[in-house]
Amino acid sequence: MKEQLLAKFADVFGDTNGVKVFFAPGRVNLIGEHTDYNGGHVFPCALTIGTYGVARKREDRALRFYSMNFENLGVLESSLDDLKPYKEADWTNYPKGVMWAFEEKGMKIPCGMDILLFGNIPNGSGLSSSASVEVLTGFILRDFFGFDVTNQDLALIGQFSENKFNGVNCGIMDQFAIAMGKKDQAIFLDTATLQFEYAPIKLQNAKLVIACSNKKRGLGDSKYNERRSECEEALAELQKVVKIETLGDLDEATFEANKDAIKSEVRQKRAKHAVYENQRTIHAVEALKKQDIKLFGELMNASHISLRDDYEVTGIELDTLVEEAWKVKGVIGSRMTGAGFGGCTVSIVEDDAIESFIEQVGKAYEAKIGYAADFYVVEAGEGPCVLA
Ligand code: GLA
Repeated sequence: MKEQLLAKFADVFGDTNGVKVFFAPGRVNLIGEHTDYNGGHVFPCALTIGTYGVARKREDRALRFYSMNFENLGVLESSLDDLKPYKEADWTNYPKGVMWAFEEKGMKIPCGMDILLFGNIPNGSGLSSSASVEVLTGFILRDFFGFDVTNQDLALIGQFSENKFNGVNCGIMDQFAIAMGKKDQAIFLDTATLQFEYAPIKLQNAKLVIACSNKKRGLGDSKYNERRSECEEALAELQKVVKIETLGDLDEATFEANKDAIKSEVRQKRAKHAVYENQRTIHAVEALKKQDIKLFGELMNASHISLRDDYEVTGIELDTLVEEAWKVKGVIGSRMTGAGFGGCTVSIVEDDAIESFIEQVGKAYEAKIGYAADFYVVEAGEGPCVLA
């Protein structure tokens, strides 16, 4: 991998003098969806697939970017003196956004860079290719210029750049999972306090399988921001009758007793999902700790149903993948993962059922949707690193 990246860098930028090679993972969320901007809990893990970056400092203030995933775009040029989002800048708005965010926070970047990226996460699949690029960029800046920031800060800076530079009001889950990733562990994170603990993913004789719907989506033009404001409105309505800071402060019973304060049926459903999903996530982590994988799987299934019926972020592609998965013997749980509206599902599948899972779900999906899904058996991996 490293040799191929270096060869490509030399090809694009002339030589490899002064380069370093970096990696940041993608992430998959096991449970706790659309809870991270509602003060709830999430339970994601970093993956072993992600984004590779080859970078070097320049003597001037120019920024030159090249992505092996978008070779048709060629080298996209910019400058530290022009850190603004432009439509034509395409994917480079993510690394540029992080550079802008460092400068906003008083960390001035002294010189330009040449940066080549290659991602083996399918783009726009809901496995956080963009957050991976953000954390990777922050990691490179810290490595090159010695900024005094922790991995947790890299996550917060990545989120800040996505919110303020790229206009997506995402929560902290993706960047946090990526920056803090640990092999074979998922991260149980309270998004209200950023308190977290690692929990080993011990699935006995089963594995995590991701199914990618291949329906493309961009968070910016999806209904993501709309869901977020629906929840904010519902919270404001509830705050007139109960003393809470976030929807994550409510248990199911208190929600049910006060839900009539929310004056629209749609907002009631959105808030219900946020409250119940948060409680499900807490229970799921307890179940995993007790090695009750069956209960963990049932909670994943319930999560999907709530995202489908109350939060309404699934769509025919994700519903087909999940509903077909539920039919396969040896599937312990299956749900959509990430923002929704396309993207991926995550399933826990017994080892000896994986082959038939991929075949059956794949066939049914293609017959109904008209194009194929892709399947990946994945493992939880480490956070960002320098490749030796
Ligand atoms: C996207 C966002 C996250 C989170 C999920 C939904 O991945 O970036 O912050 O809100 O959607 O759980």
